[in-house]
Amino acid sequence: LTVSFISPFQLSPETLQEVSARLRKDLLRGLGKHSHHKAPVKMLPTFVRATPDGTEKGDFLALDLGGTNFRVLHVRVEEEAQKVLKMDSQICAIPQEMMLGTGEQLFDHIATCLGDFLESHNLKGQTLPLGFTFSFPCEQLEIDKSILIRWTKGFNCSGVEGKDVVQLLKEAIHRRGDYHIGSVAMVNDTVGTMMSCGYKDQSCEIGMIIGTGTNACYMEEIKNVKRIEGEDGRMCINTEWGGFGDDGCLDDILTEFDVEVDKTSINPGVHIFEKMISGMYLGEIVRLVLVKMTKDKLLFKGQISEALGTRGLFETKFISEIEDGLENAKKILTELGLDWSLVDASVVRLVCDTISSRSAYLCAAALATLVNRIRNNRKLGHLKTTVGVDGTVYRKHPTFSSKLQKAVRLLAPQCDITFLVSEDGSGKGAAMVTAVAQRPAHQSRLLEESDGEDNEEEEEEEGQ
Ligand code: BGC
Repeated sequence: LTVSFISPFQLSPETLQEVSARLRKDLLRGLGKHSHHKAPVKMLPTFVRATPDGTEKGDFLALDLGGTNFRVLHVRVEEEAQKVLKMDSQICAIPQEMMLGTGEQLFDHIATCLGDFLESHNLKGQTLPLGFTFSFPCEQLEIDKSILIRWTKGFNCSGVEGKDVVQLLKEAIHRRGDYHIGSVAMVNDTVGTMMSCGYKDQSCEIGMIIGTGTNACYMEEIKNVKRIEGEDGRMCINTEWGGFGDDGCLDDILTEFDVEVDKTSINPGVHIFEKMISGMYLGEIVRLVLVKMTKDKLLFKGQISEALGTRGLFETKFISEIEDGLENAKKILTELGLDWSLVDASVVRLVCDTISSRSAYLCAAALATLVNRIRNNRKLGHLKTTVGVDGTVYRKHPTFSSKLQKAVRLLAPQCDITFLVSEDGSGKGAAMVTAVAQRPAHQSRLLEESDGEDNEEEEEEEGQ
């Protein structure tokens, strides 16, 4: 009976290959000049045209919004020692009400945190360039012009979607009027992660996050990015793979629990792939399975505790803890007010393992799509590359990273991938992007949208 709950989450290697193939098509749709409007995987140009070359230097400010905490940082990049030093940083809590309040309140709060930081670190008189890690899907028009497409994860502030986030930040700073900032570079956290790893390992051309949300970026050939002028060179593309499945193309692998998680989320119908994978949702999927199993009298003598019955109270970190050892499982089940037996505790571990494994395998399928694409782009029989990774799920779960790595090896056998956990990608990476963006050769722009008929043929390249 337990098996009937578990098996819909167990994806065969063939299914994973199929998922990877579907994503491959969606990457093309996202890159296309006309098809990108409707593409669920947005493939956003980032205006980062190069990974670091080791000559970057200077002092930078960095803001980091969209991960577990909001942070302000002062970062120094030293050319001689090839080091990125975090001089100081400060965490500023963002209360839940603010995450769901008005954009003006949010940006005023950010400007206040930045002001306090500058004040307490004696930096108010300087005009330092600022890297803004803003970990949400943005249509970037230039490195310092970035329109929020939609909020994800727990955020839903009014009046920000469709607006230029840099402008909103500048207006908030202007309202205070007591300090100035230099040039701004907008950075997605995946890009920051890639760039911070890229300073150490110049073959790092992919950044991946598996934390509260999930996403990846990679270096694409500009000639394939049909919305950007120019033929030569590469640009980092923020895939926003969390949106994979938003057109229904993953419906056949969704379970009733995924459907429920989506329905009760603050953004129903969107970021379907993310909702099967990331830390914001994994705990809730497990909870829904446990509730249903208990109702079917397969667990806890059929008794649901108040905590188990409450949305959001089974935290994703419990999954890591429970899988780490049976003793932890017992402790957590007790804390959740459940009357458990030893068999119950083992079944709960099995459920956690099943759901976290599915997450790791789905990420592996998506990552395999990216490395295979890079290999095909370069017409290489074999690709050796490095992926910079960050995020609480990847870092904290006891077996997630090894499962993911093993599965990618199976799904992308011609690629040899090194995984590098990023050292503060959102802070140091933002400084790195800001530094690289200051190189004069990096100006480029988005092509004007033509109203032409939808002609998807141009996207149907590569016949593999
Ligand atoms: C956002 C991405 C971000 C990812 C990881 C997703 O919800 O859409 O922009 O990179 O979370 O933080």
